[in-house]
Amino acid sequence: MQQTTEQTERKKRVLSCIQPTGIPTLGNYLGALRNWVDMQDSFDCAFAVADLHALTVRQEPSKLRQQIYEMFALLLAIGLDPEKHMIFVQSQVPQHAELSWLLSCCTQFGELSRMTQFKDKSQKHSDNINLGLFAYPTLMAADILLYQPDFVPVGEDQKQHCELTRNIAERFNSLYGSTFTVPEPYIMRRGGRVRSLQDPTKKMSKSDENQNAFISLKDDPDTVLRKFRRAVTDSEAVVRYAEGKDGINNLMDIYSTITDKDYDAIEAEFAGRGYGDFKTAVGEAVVEVLKPVQECFAVYMSDKAQLDALMKQGAERASWVAARTLNKAKKKMGLLLEK
Ligand code: TYM
Repeated sequence: MQQTTEQTERKKRVLSCIQPTGIPTLGNYLGALRNWVDMQDSFDCAFAVADLHALTVRQEPSKLRQQIYEMFALLLAIGLDPEKHMIFVQSQVPQHAELSWLLSCCTQFGELSRMTQFKDKSQKHSDNINLGLFAYPTLMAADILLYQPDFVPVGEDQKQHCELTRNIAERFNSLYGSTFTVPEPYIMRRGGRVRSLQDPTKKMSKSDENQNAFISLKDDPDTVLRKFRRAVTDSEAVVRYAEGKDGINNLMDIYSTITDKDYDAIEAEFAGRGYGDFKTAVGEAVVEVLKPVQECFAVYMSDKAQLDALMKQGAERASWVAARTLNKAKKKMGLLLEK
């Protein structure tokens, strides 16, 4: 009875993670991070720096260490609240790696072979197609299922991994009895796919070799404005959302997500004005969004001891929840728990 009351009264839960592979882009921010901040009031949240995932491609150890700190500081700088929610670093919660093994034994080779991200990344890193890269989605399933979330807020590119997580959870539940909540991906209508400024048929990515293709959350105002001025558009010189105008559509999406104006309003605002004005307006809107985040980030990065303490607190809280789920899964599979 008590449990039923708890279940009906508990807030819905969300979990999401981000890899510490460089400073996030505007795409990560609009597609994911900003929504995490907004979700804090209505949901019980777990957000993590997915450092184990970063190891699937070669990383320079000292650089990775710094990037983990930076990503954690950034999560705090955008406004995630470590007192109210679980904000942590994945590798500091050992249950992730352990559940990942249990789930790999419930994941089919064929399923993993179909993952488009695996195909893309193995092409890109053809000298290092390692087992971790292939098994990546089972680690992601473990990240998610350990916290029994109802929703997983992600950008569109992670939808396939979320679908696989659902399949793994359903399979496990049917083999061993109800163990995991089967979560829904939660993809924002706007900002779900911010595109490259240089090739708007591709998503904006922090690993793009062309620095002008993405806005990093660390870019200073001049750099942001310059990158938007150089953004690839078309020759029509009319600001309107239409098929075949990928560059302008992307800029309109960015502007609309930030200002909350719909396409009609944007078209009206820039009617009779050239692309130059529009690009500057988008750049300026982005600069305004980044300013407070950058200021706060610098303050967090100046105190590593505080970051360490907050990481420890986050990992302890997360471990407590994760251990309960892991033990449940182990028992269901017939393993013995530590005495
Ligand atoms: P990652 O680190 O590549 O990206 C973090 C989040 O940002 C979203 N995103 C975008 N959204 C819109 N437009 C873009 N151009 C864009 N680029 C990235 C991603 O969809 C993601 O939501 N595998 C994950 C990390 C992960 C994870 C998890 C996510 C590990 N475990 C568990 C959710 C749940 C990844 O590589 O995201």
